[in-house]
Amino acid sequence: MGVLDGRAGVVTGGGRGIGRGHCLHLAEQGASVVVNDIDIDEASAVVDEITKAGGKASANKSDISTREGAQALVAQCVDEFGGIHAVVNNAGNVKDRTFLRMTDDEFMSVVKVHQGGTFMCSQEGALRMKEQGTGGAIVNTVSAAHFGNFGQTNYAGSKGAIASMTYTWALELARYGIRVNAISPTGSTRMSSTYKGPDGKDVELPYIDPTRNGAFVAFLCSDHANYVSGQIFGTGGERVVILEHPAYGNAMYKDGGWSTDDLVAGFENHMRKELEPLGIMSQPYPFHDGVKPPSS
Ligand SMILES: NC(=O)c1ccc[n+]([C@@H]2O[C@H](COP(=O)([O-])OP(=O)(O)OC[C@H]3O[C@@H](n4cnc5c(N)ncnc54)[C@H](O)[C@@H]3O)[C@@H](O)[C@H]2O)c1
Repeated sequence: MGVLDGRAGVVTGGGRGIGRGHCLHLAEQGASVVVNDIDIDEASAVVDEITKAGGKASANKSDISTREGAQALVAQCVDEFGGIHAVVNNAGNVKDRTFLRMTDDEFMSVVKVHQGGTFMCSQEGALRMKEQGTGGAIVNTVSAAHFGNFGQTNYAGSKGAIASMTYTWALELARYGIRVNAISPTGSTRMSSTYKGPDGKDVELPYIDPTRNGAFVAFLCSDHANYVSGQIFGTGGERVVILEHPAYGNAMYKDGGWSTDDLVAGFENHMRKELEPLGIMSQPYPFHDGVKPPSS
């Protein structure tokens, strides 16, 4: 008996890394899983692993950054397993480059897979769930890079957009019984091996089993999480941590509103101490001495 007995779902980019772990955990909890990956050999290997362990799965090689790919993926789940109850948007790519050097192709390629793929697969899945009348769960994937990360304009921007889409869809889809959450996972994978430090150099990271994020994804897809929607959780390793939503902080008020002259006179006094930490490591606000041109 698993918490997902009788359910069916799709995992994008499920052929390796973090997505593979999601597939294994969903299947272990009784769900039938369509393992999607543009790398079909990897997806098929995960399907073999699941079927050998007594689970149900099938492979799909759609490019989820296209409408046809998203449609085919969801249709395969419905055709082969009789319905769809979970969409796990995990597929991802990286094309890191500093902002001033990033090309349109590098930017669009990452936005298309992360933000575009998440949009299209979720929409295709949610339309089917609405039609079925069963409700369901969408689990998106963000990254702490969306706090800002050197060299990742395309990736950080897409992940921030996915966080905002998660909050928005939770509001819009609750009426159909569809819950929408996201994880910000951790794991040693092909992608994590490309990470650079703030100085742009390779970093040595301790090994973290990428499959461990899947247990939480299975929980989020189950009825045991039927009161959880519009939330983002850091997962992986040994911890589950809730991500605080961006929210307005301390305000400054002035009768009649602030003129520019008022701000010149009063902003520093009110707001300098409020300036927020920056970046993936929540670095304390780094610009108290000013942001100056190189020649000064
Ligand atoms: N590894 C980490 O520590 C980490 C941290 C934060 C967020 N993430 C996110 O977790 C997710 C998985 O990352 P990972 O580290 O396992 O990466 P990975 O590169 O190991 O796996 C990603 C998989 O997605 C597939 N894929 C890429 N584009 C696709 C497309 N258009 N259609 C279908 N499949 C496609 C790839 O073939 C690959 O198998 C990504 O969304 C990533 O941004 C990872």
